[in-house]
Amino acid sequence: RATADARGLTIVITAGPTREAIDPVRYLSNHSSGKMGYALAEAAVRRGATVKLISGPVSLDTPPGVERLDVESAQEMFEASRRLAEQSDVFIGCAAVADYRVEHVAEHKLKKTAERDDLTLKLAKNPDIIAEIAALDRRIRPFVVGFAAETRDLEAYARDKLLRKGLDMIVANDVSQEGLGFGADHNAALLLWRDDDRSPGRRELPAQTKQTLASAVFEAILERLTASHET
Ligand code: PMT
Repeated sequence: RATADARGLTIVITAGPTREAIDPVRYLSNHSSGKMGYALAEAAVRRGATVKLISGPVSLDTPPGVERLDVESAQEMFEASRRLAEQSDVFIGCAAVADYRVEHVAEHKLKKTAERDDLTLKLAKNPDIIAEIAALDRRIRPFVVGFAAETRDLEAYARDKLLRKGLDMIVANDVSQEGLGFGADHNAALLLWRDDDRSPGRRELPAQTKQTLASAVFEAILERLTASHET
């Protein structure tokens, strides 16, 4: 099959985890390695797109030809995403963004006390980056692709996220499967997209390397983007 051409398109991709500071030396985070998002960036640049990668802290090299912007917290990722999304054709949210941050970050390192055996952290909700991008005005809104990391009822939860967050497409992955998902070199996905019909379009992509999966996902994005321009 001919490789779709993405020349002239600007793609913004978020990848990796976020870090939410507790104090100057501690943070809350997750196991995202950035591999899936970086593989997508590579796939897009290979097809001639201009790629801007907003990356949480990961230990991966920047793929050649990709412009990378490093961020730490969800709030920083949100600000960078908003700034870059407005000038892009496609926004892909592959990052594992912390839903909550620590409400009051301690100015100094928290001390263990002799008097208490417990410590309570109060969390505050972070902005939902992808939902905010999807809600941008039509004139500046890119084609928005989210991910859904689920441990059960993959399709039902992903379908709910597609509609609730106002996305054009969602890449759902079952992160409870051994050897797939967070940190792994392989992944499998269920793609769901909005169609004119009531029921969303769907395509299953079996387990494979994150590189080949990223190519297949990117092909599907280009197909849907073309279809959305034709309607
Ligand atoms: O990085 P790897 O080790 O390669 O692993 C890849 C992955 C498993 C992290 C990736 O494939 C994946 O599933 N990424 C999304 C992880 C996630 O946070 O999913 P979610 O179901 O909680 O979020 C749904 C969507 O909302 C995602 O597009 C997410 O980027 C976005 N989101 C979530 C919270 C938030 N505050 N803002 C967001 O934009």
